[in-house]
Amino acid sequence: MKFRVRPVARLHGEAEVPGDKSVSHRSALLGALAEGVTEVQGYLEAEDCLRTITAVQALGAEVTRKGPGHYRIAGGGLRGLGEPADVVDCGNSGTTARLLAGVLAGQPFWTMLTGDASLRRRPMGRIAEPLRQMGATVVGRAEGTRLPLAIRGTAAPKAIHYASPVASAQVKSAVLLAGLGAEGPVRVTEPAPSRDHSERILRRFGLDVTTADRTVTLTPGPLRATAVQVPGDVSSAAFLLVAAAIVADARVTLHRVGVNPTRTGVLDVLQAMGATIATSQAADEGEPTASLTATTTALRATTIGGAQLIPRLIDEVPVLAVAAAVADGVTVVRDATELRVKESDRIAAIARQLGRMGTVIEERPDGMAITGGRLHGAAVDSGGDHRMAMALAIAALVADGETLIDDVACVSTSYPSFAATINALAGTTAITVEG
Ligand code: S3P
Repeated sequence: MKFRVRPVARLHGEAEVPGDKSVSHRSALLGALAEGVTEVQGYLEAEDCLRTITAVQALGAEVTRKGPGHYRIAGGGLRGLGEPADVVDCGNSGTTARLLAGVLAGQPFWTMLTGDASLRRRPMGRIAEPLRQMGATVVGRAEGTRLPLAIRGTAAPKAIHYASPVASAQVKSAVLLAGLGAEGPVRVTEPAPSRDHSERILRRFGLDVTTADRTVTLTPGPLRATAVQVPGDVSSAAFLLVAAAIVADARVTLHRVGVNPTRTGVLDVLQAMGATIATSQAADEGEPTASLTATTTALRATTIGGAQLIPRLIDEVPVLAVAAAVADGVTVVRDATELRVKESDRIAAIARQLGRMGTVIEERPDGMAITGGRLHGAAVDSGGDHRMAMALAIAALVADGETLIDDVACVSTSYPSFAATINALAGTTAITVEG
């Protein structure tokens, strides 16, 4: 499947972005582990999060779809899951694989996890290592560091204090989920804070979770079913905010976007680049939300780096690179080696693909230097990475001439309505989906 993208002069209107991917995964996993019925509204109905639904069903949770984004999950408690009859396929979803591995480390049966070609290349040693320390058996390819992995959990996980070498919410969450059935408090210390959705939603399900500095402490206990309202995904909103900043005549308002401070690095960077993003706070049901309005701005280059900032915008670097490609000056991205182990090597992918559109990018081991200028229409390729596909489509909106983006079916892993939303805001068919 390809996107054929024509440049646009205007982008105006209001939109709701789809549900937050991170919160959706967690709501399904905790719903399956809770006692009673959890009702989730605003669930992201995209391939990654639907993989998590299928996975919890394979483990025995009863899931009913009551309407768009509305799911009823009947959990049987921490001991209510059972051995799945087949291999669980996590598709392209790293969050499904890593968080599910955490859940399975606390379950006394075998489960086999696999994924697509991209996910089978991604590092799993980072979760296998602490889960083994907690008493789980984790075996598989590459000495148990790549999918497919077989996991046999234990009914009595050890209460460890894990010092994670990476600021990764997936690692932190895997340990916390494994620790739900532990005998004592489980602690994770991170080199820098990562997104805290697990901590927030665990509290919503009745658990005692505290954070002091860079250490999270979970006191194990049963999960109480609850209602979860999933906010809009700021990572999806980021594409529209950058589009509004760079299209010649634009004003776009996005409603009910999740603005959890561990996720809003993209807003800070866009503001540092000169963008005006008006925020009006709305509801906070465990996760804060807001309406965000972005308008056309002449962007200037900035530096994107530092252990505190990078985890707060790690998924937004591809689209921030597009902002940098049209900004005045040289933008430097550093301290971001994690980009090399995402759905693709995003440092290499950004350099190669935006390079085809005329941007001068110097690739570095931990980031890149992007010289702002003009973008030209070109033939580019997402490499099967949804965030690359969408970032390239945003770049194409302001390029000279038409752009053809190959391999875009992956967009449905996180934002199936992306092209339709852009076209509605543009008031014309800017993005055509082909074969
Ligand atoms: C996620 C954490 C991040 C992020 C991913 C979703 C999560 O990954 O890139 O898209 O939901 O916990 P890491 O934990 O590997 O940094």
